Amino acid sequence: MTAEPGPGPADDTISKLVAAFHEEAARGVSSRSDFEALKGRYLGREKGLVPALFARMREIPPADRASYGARANAAKREIEEAIRALGELVARGETEKSERAAAVDVTLPGRRVPAGSLHPVTIVRRRVEEIFLRMGYSIADGPEIENDAHNFEALNFPPEHPARDAQDTLFIDLQAPSPLLLRTHTSPVQIREMKKRGAPIKIISPGRVYRNESVDATHQPVFHQVEALVVDRGISMADLKGTVEAFFEALFGPGTRSRIIPTFFPFVEPGADVHVSCIFCNGAGCRTCKGSGWVELAGAGEVHPRVLEACGIDPEEFSGFAFGLGLDRVAMMLYEFPDLRLLFDGEERFLSQFAPLS
Ligand code: DAH
Repeated sequence: MTAEPGPGPADDTISKLVAAFHEEAARGVSSRSDFEALKGRYLGREKGLVPALFARMREIPPADRASYGARANAAKREIEEAIRALGELVARGETEKSERAAAVDVTLPGRRVPAGSLHPVTIVRRRVEEIFLRMGYSIADGPEIENDAHNFEALNFPPEHPARDAQDTLFIDLQAPSPLLLRTHTSPVQIREMKKRGAPIKIISPGRVYRNESVDATHQPVFHQVEALVVDRGISMADLKGTVEAFFEALFGPGTRSRIIPTFFPFVEPGADVHVSCIFCNGAGCRTCKGSGWVELAGAGEVHPRVLEACGIDPEEFSGFAFGLGLDRVAMMLYEFPDLRLLFDGEERFLSQFAPLS
């Protein structure tokens, strides 16, 4: 409501001021600073237009003062009330603005969180573990820093035997009662587990192994093996053959053939190399298998009686088989890449390509 205009020279001033105020307020006060400016201009104690109305009282003819004062007061209340209401609106607007700024905008496109991928050797290791777990094996772990007793002696490597050189051992402490070294194969886990758990036993032990090799496309000083060991009553080479066949068929697919060729390892008797039909040419002969149709993938054999004895197992009662293979070679074959170094360079463009095998 606007103040009633009345007679006399001051009436005009009051009603004009009120009208001007409403006009300004109607133009919109969008921010707190606009609002404060408007409020200051009208109600400011020093220079405010409303207090100025009262300052003019002296100029009003005494007869008109009462009505002038009443209308000035009415105008002041009206403007104060309007400013209070405006203040509330501005405050609410500011709150909404800040709430909107803090709110989650569900229409924004999501930020992509890059997912890592598994290392090909990890994928292969898990796949191998799955296959053996299905066949009733359990998984055993052993230390990467081994001693001569477990890495060689109990595995029937005689002292000074050249087979120790063949493994290009990286020694850590030659003064220790049994020299400390980085394990050159996963076979020492056989020893630890047989000593700990006796027979019967059915385990695999995947893990990292170390050899003093110069790096090239097929050699690395650090690589990965998995070892399988079964000891029970009446275990023979036939069990080894059947297990090896079942394992490689599960790993490379149905129709994969394997064969066993006699060879020497100190910890098995008889010892054998396991050849697997080349998965690229299916045995026809290609570059990967150097025309032979076969790829040598594992060492194997019947556990040597002296190895069982070294672990406190009676070789008259128990027999067993063991085999060991390189996981890096398997990864190279399954994923068809030509250079072992790719597995160890940590090159993201190479490693991010690997999805778990279905
Ligand atoms: N430990 C052997 C190596 O690293 C591989 C091996 C050969 C493991 C024969 C076995 C085995 O279990 O029976 O060269």
